[in-house]
Amino acid sequence: MIQVKDGVYWVGAVDWNVRNFHGYVTHRGTTYNAYLVVDEKVALIDTVKAPFLPEMMERLEEVINPGEIDYVISNHTEPDHSGALLAVLEAAGDAELIASDMGRKGLRRYYGDDLKCTTITERPAVSLGSRTLQFVATPMVHWPDSMVTYIPEEKLLLSNDAFGQHLATSKRFDDEVDPAVLMHEAAKYYANIVMPLWRSVSRALKALAGLEIEVIAPSHGVIWRSRPGEILRAYRRWVEGAASERVVVVYDTMWGSTERVAKALVEGIASEGVEARLHRLGVTHNSDVIADVLDARAVLVGSPTLNNGLFPTVASFLAYMKGLKPKNKIGAVFGSYGWGGGAKRAAEAEMKAAGIDLVESDLDFVYRPTGEELKRAVEFGREIAKRVKNGRA
Ligand code: FEO
Repeated sequence: MIQVKDGVYWVGAVDWNVRNFHGYVTHRGTTYNAYLVVDEKVALIDTVKAPFLPEMMERLEEVINPGEIDYVISNHTEPDHSGALLAVLEAAGDAELIASDMGRKGLRRYYGDDLKCTTITERPAVSLGSRTLQFVATPMVHWPDSMVTYIPEEKLLLSNDAFGQHLATSKRFDDEVDPAVLMHEAAKYYANIVMPLWRSVSRALKALAGLEIEVIAPSHGVIWRSRPGEILRAYRRWVEGAASERVVVVYDTMWGSTERVAKALVEGIASEGVEARLHRLGVTHNSDVIADVLDARAVLVGSPTLNNGLFPTVASFLAYMKGLKPKNKIGAVFGSYGWGGGAKRAAEAEMKAAGIDLVESDLDFVYRPTGEELKRAVEFGREIAKRVKNGRA
């Protein structure tokens, strides 16, 4: 039995084996965190993905009989948190379901129009006895229905998707896991899920700013009991689009020509003392590349021309990045072609649509770059590195 605070229990489930979370590669699995607050009244905050219902119920029954649950709070409609909801409500008997206004609409779409649900407009807070549940709407962190639950007496924020990490572990708390792994997974989660919603995150951070927070308990990954300030600071930095002196060079190659240009760019960048990270698409997954892009100032994308357009892996990456809209990045395009070309033009259009500030480049070479052309690429890498160092867009 795991206590987050006195009378507050973790009753979630660990998904060790999930490796694809709606298109995001989860090398380390994830958890679906649900929390039980036992006071004069009993509340369950969130449930788990449907197949994990038995695991959750087993943990819950270590603490109480499910029939004792008075309130079920749905912070978020997405099925990784609501999948077990109907079964839980049935086991709980007369429990009152509470969600945001959009949450009620969403839950009824998923689980039927006859679902009884009170909204947080109707009931913005619930007293459980010595503890209170206060609800704060945080729309678009991650869906329009998203909200968080705050327990002022415990200084505990149940933040749902916000501040989460896809990290399966037998440990439940931030001080029990490798901090580098934890921050990497938190950054990857932000980059792949939260990044395009930064305006909503910024509003949510402002809404939460007045709260005294000792512990942040998200719905994925470990609980921030020792370093809640660290993840709050990281979110503020990411929302602002702050970045380090790093350039991500991402490409795919048909016969090695685009790869030669990519490596020449890395040579130029590194010669200026700026960090370069090279990823070949098809080897590295889009979601891992994006995790590196989050904290980079520049992203350089290379594609061979195939059928007058982008190489498929590069097209996929650019479509993915366009959806996530990384903030405050400069970028450029390079590649190779045989006769008509077309990839560079298509890539530049996609980069612009992703909100990237394009630097003009002349790095699209016929068949195979010559020694002179590779020198041009090295020089271009240096130029990009200088811009990165100067913070120039
Ligand atoms: Fe973890 Fe948006 O669901």
